Amino acid sequence: MSVRLDRTTLLVCTRCRIGDAAPEKPRAGARLFAETARAAAGSERVRVVGIACLSGCKRACAAALMAPGKVGYLFGDLPPDADGAADLVTAALAHARRPEGFLPRAERPERLRAGILARLPPPHWLEDEQQAVIA
Ligand code: FES
Repeated sequence: MSVRLDRTTLLVCTRCRIGDAAPEKPRAGARLFAETARAAAGSERVRVVGIACLSGCKRACAAALMAPGKVGYLFGDLPPDADGAADLVTAALAHARRPEGFLPRAERPERLRAGILARLPPPHWLEDEQQAVIA
């Protein structure tokens, strides 16, 4: 199996609900997943995958960017519409282009600045036994 370093996987939670209202059908997460898949259709660099939960439930809708050897991101507070999907695909394309996947705050779409829940280093950064702090 070959690993593509120029492609980012965009994980979109399909089970997110917004607020305490009676469960909508389809769920907000499922709507965001469908819109995101539509927005990324035909892209060689972005693969959209639905996932049952990203543990960002209190900040729905949630989605994550991941790629081998790169920084990973978890975002929340995304609207389940075409605008939220477009922001995710824009960020995923930037993530795919960057060798280490860093997405500086100023270069992320507005909603993905305030809505960032986590930024995780790639595992290979943790292999240095002497390194006590990762910049
Ligand atoms: S249900 Fe969407 S993050 Fe948990």
